[in-house]
Amino acid sequence: MARFREMSETFYQEATTAPASAFDVSLRPPVFSEFIGQEKVKERLLLMLEAAKRRDDVLDHVLLSGPPGLGKTTLANLISSAAGTQLHTTSGPQIEKAGDLAGVLTNIQKGDILFIDEIHRLHPAIEEYLYPAMEDYRLDIIIDSGPSARSIQINLPRFTLVGATTRSGMLTAPLRSRFGLVNRLDYYTHEELAEIIERSAGLLDVPIERAGALEVASRARGTPRVANSLLRWVRDFAQVRGDGTITGVVADQALAMIEIDSQGLDEMDKRLLEVMIYKFGGGPVGLNSLAVALGEDAATIEEVHEPFLIMQGYLMRTPRGRIALPAAYGKIGAAVPETRGDDSQNELF
Ligand SMILES: Nc1ncnc2c1ncn2[C@@H]1O[C@H](COP(=O)(O)OP(=O)(O)OP(=O)(O)O)[C@@H](O)[C@H]1O
Ligand SMILES: [Mg+2]
Repeated sequence: MARFREMSETFYQEATTAPASAFDVSLRPPVFSEFIGQEKVKERLLLMLEAAKRRDDVLDHVLLSGPPGLGKTTLANLISSAAGTQLHTTSGPQIEKAGDLAGVLTNIQKGDILFIDEIHRLHPAIEEYLYPAMEDYRLDIIIDSGPSARSIQINLPRFTLVGATTRSGMLTAPLRSRFGLVNRLDYYTHEELAEIIERSAGLLDVPIERAGALEVASRARGTPRVANSLLRWVRDFAQVRGDGTITGVVADQALAMIEIDSQGLDEMDKRLLEVMIYKFGGGPVGLNSLAVALGEDAATIEEVHEPFLIMQGYLMRTPRGRIALPAAYGKIGAAVPETRGDDSQNELF
């Protein structure tokens, strides 16, 4: 049993923070028409692509933001294949020096897509180099230092920057304003996830009933990558404990075995709510205190666990820290306090 508990504790984290696995990639929709959901984002991107094509122009820079696993990298790939241009991939932390950026930018050709993942983690000094590159397709590089320092200018081909971030709030205003189109991806509905799961099951050659797909979907915390990882587990379970077909009952049993509850909360989510309520009196509590009490990395709590818990109405972020909402008390079976000393929060209860 210990192994399974461990599994569920890390299930979402792996599914949401690990680099794309071969499994992930094999299920990635290769064309826009197979990309399910995010209708508004898709419509805008397709319109932009069409306009660029008619004008025979390069595409404007695009920013994609949203929690992990919702399809940012997938969309970057789709944009590049729809535009018929090459995709060059890098990420904020990978570009350490101006020279790294120059190296990437001087390798691209007209119309190519430069995909910078985790763009909020770009070094501020590198950002400065990016501005003229985005605006005027020009790089001003300073070489040497001291009295012999001089600036050289490199003209770049017209290119499209596609930036992805899980933390759009951390992007500086000047960088953000240089994107022609800013898209925020939202969590998927159960129906959309069920469709994604059915598509993936088809690719994996696993028979699945609608009820099975919906059962997995309702526990996938609005995230296609999580849906696909859960599907993988449920498929194994169906093969060993059933006849291979994923029915509603099979999916339910399989997910109960790794302790993922009916709303998709895992062990870490529940521990987070417990710690907030029992250890910090429901908050407000700062992110770092929570991280220490949970023995978990603050960024993982903030980027993986919290957005979903906030969306589900379990907690709230305030300037003074995180506060557990009544639903959180219900979830862990604790009594909701009647008054909370601090007047400013009473309206929440
Ligand atoms: N709309 C979709 N339809 C079908 N499958 C999808 C969709 N969005 C994502 N997926 C699946 O989910 C996986 C994860 O998506 P992707 O890697 O694009 O997420 P991401 O937003 O880039 O995540 P991260 O922030 O962790 O980099 C993809 O490999 C793909 O299999
Ligand atoms: Mg990605």
